[in-house]
Amino acid sequence: MRIVIAYSGGLDTSAILALLVSEGHEVITVTVDVGQEDDLKGAEERAYHLGASKHIHIDAVEEFAKDYISWAIKANALYEEQYPLGTALARPLIALKVAEIALKYGADAVAHGCTGKGNDQVRFDAMLKYYLGESIGIIAPVRELGLTREKSLQILKEAGLSLETPHKKYSIDENLWSRSIEGGELDDLGVEPPEEVYAWTVSPEKAPDEPLYLEIGFDMGIPYMVNGVEMPLHGLVKYLNELVGAHGYGRIDHVENRVVGLKSREIYEAPAALALIYAHKDLEKTVYTPKEYRFKQLVDREWTDLVYQGLWMEPLKTHLESYIDSSNKYVSGTVTLKVYKGSIQIASRKPEYTSYSTELIDYNKGWYPSAEEATGFIKIYTMHSLYTAWSRKQTKKTPLEEKVHAS
Ligand code: ARG
Repeated sequence: MRIVIAYSGGLDTSAILALLVSEGHEVITVTVDVGQEDDLKGAEERAYHLGASKHIHIDAVEEFAKDYISWAIKANALYEEQYPLGTALARPLIALKVAEIALKYGADAVAHGCTGKGNDQVRFDAMLKYYLGESIGIIAPVRELGLTREKSLQILKEAGLSLETPHKKYSIDENLWSRSIEGGELDDLGVEPPEEVYAWTVSPEKAPDEPLYLEIGFDMGIPYMVNGVEMPLHGLVKYLNELVGAHGYGRIDHVENRVVGLKSREIYEAPAALALIYAHKDLEKTVYTPKEYRFKQLVDREWTDLVYQGLWMEPLKTHLESYIDSSNKYVSGTVTLKVYKGSIQIASRKPEYTSYSTELIDYNKGWYPSAEEATGFIKIYTMHSLYTAWSRKQTKKTPLEEKVHAS
């Protein structure tokens, strides 16, 4: 068979490659760069060493930012209020690139290295099937053979490769939007993550004493400028990851509900994602009517859940995106963030469109409702709730009058 592997160059996908080659298959490896800072040259060398007939490297960083991360910002996507979806966003794009290669080279099957316990298998299987239909099969040797770390190392040893695994204690996944660390001692909920798990953030204790001010410019919900300098989204995210991470902000410790019915404890680093979503949400709140804002929260949560759950192709997602886009049309302006030793605050904001008005809100000057207007409003506004609440007590007195008179 001719098989295309979604190849990261790590332990599991390398073992799969060796295994499939040893079974006599022709294997093409595809590495998709979504901003992970892996050794991509090393991955290529390993692929050929292990017998790949061809290795293909695809730089998809810009596309990842433009077509995936941009939605996550517009939708304030934080799964269960915490996880910015890095891995969940990248899987559909990796599946797309792998599927394109599979079709181009007339592959009989595609392979990925996901286990049977995680979300990623759902995302890959779903999206590969969406792009390839039933004609090209999906194989997942780690899931099918129950490959463990030890078995994978053994397979590689037999193939004459000893793989350096510096983070062997943890399972790590990384891309432009977030870095995740799980497994090992972190599985014990009572253990505080040791400093060694972090790579993108310094500990707040070691952060600089000077605060960092970042003026983020948004255009229709998309950040495009930092402190006066325009940047393409992928560059802006990379820049903020470094700057914000150096100030100790961006760490997440999350006990997460997986799609497959398991709870897992995950540590994330996502300085840019958290900072941008914080700023974007603040700008939205300043811009939207209360009704728009509340409805947007519902839409955002649905969108985020679908993406987390691997349903990137679900038609509902497209409908939600119509609302996400039409509301974001007015989310333009700047938000200035103050990042200081692991904390973040809004220092100031300048929305382009807003119903906020100093003239209206000032207690001492400008517009003021007359006493009659104010009490009239309150009377009509509370009437329904008051009379209903009283009538349910079946009494002529208010509940408080009854209580006071009884004592
Ligand atoms: N829990 C996150 C998610 O489901 C991160 C998964 C990381 N994947 C990995 N293979 N280590 O999206």
